[in-house]
Amino acid sequence: MPKSIFITGTDTAVGKTTISCLLLKKLKQLGYKTFAMKPIASGCTMDENNHFVNEDALALQAAASIFKPYPAINPIALKEPIAPHLAAKLMGKKLSVALLTETITAHVQAEADINIIEGVGGWSVPLNETELFSEAILQLNIPTILVVAIKLGCLNHAILTYHNIVQMKVPLLGWVANCIEQDTLASSGNIETLKQWIHAPCLGVVPFRS
Ligand SMILES: Nc1ncnc2c1ncn2[C@@H]1O[C@H](COP(=O)(O)OP(=O)(O)O)[C@@H](O)[C@H]1O
Ligand SMILES: [Mg+2]
Repeated sequence: MPKSIFITGTDTAVGKTTISCLLLKKLKQLGYKTFAMKPIASGCTMDENNHFVNEDALALQAAASIFKPYPAINPIALKEPIAPHLAAKLMGKKLSVALLTETITAHVQAEADINIIEGVGGWSVPLNETELFSEAILQLNIPTILVVAIKLGCLNHAILTYHNIVQMKVPLLGWVANCIEQDTLASSGNIETLKQWIHAPCLGVVPFRS
């Protein structure tokens, strides 16, 4: 497996794509060859060539230094903006850990110094009735970064997610505090609390609107 980092989050819309793109920009500046993919995306629109495309995947494609055609970035493009296994079902498709591990393995780029792989939704996203997305990350043993959106409720989401990543024995590189809201009374207190509860490096605190 070429060098890869999996970007997960405490939920959907917590900043996984934003942080992935910031990381890709920084790595590019430092001269690293990067590739980025979103193996499964739900919420796609039809492009001019009648292919389903997803905004996150397009942003990753633009931010990476290695350019590949869209299907290499987002091999499983699901139309409806709902949980992936439900979106897949509506298209007569079935997701599985086997399909996801094969898809990731087939598309990560050996020539990249680093492959950034964005998840979908949060950490424990179902692929079907019995399998979770996170099991594919475990099977491939991909070091993971947890993006935490700093807002009310984030302590519960972050601590639960952290405990599960550790329990599954997936390598956790660290977590990013993403200040998705204007500073509140609790922002710095939440970040400090998470530093005490998450025994992995805080890789950065990303300000609001960065
Ligand atoms: N630090 C931030 N400050 C302000 N807005 C942010 C920040 N991080 C993310 N956002 C916004 O929040 C929304 C969700 O972010 P996104 O990166 O798409 O999350 P995810 O990939 O987890 O679904 C987007 O509209 C994005 O522009
Ligand atoms: Mg995203």
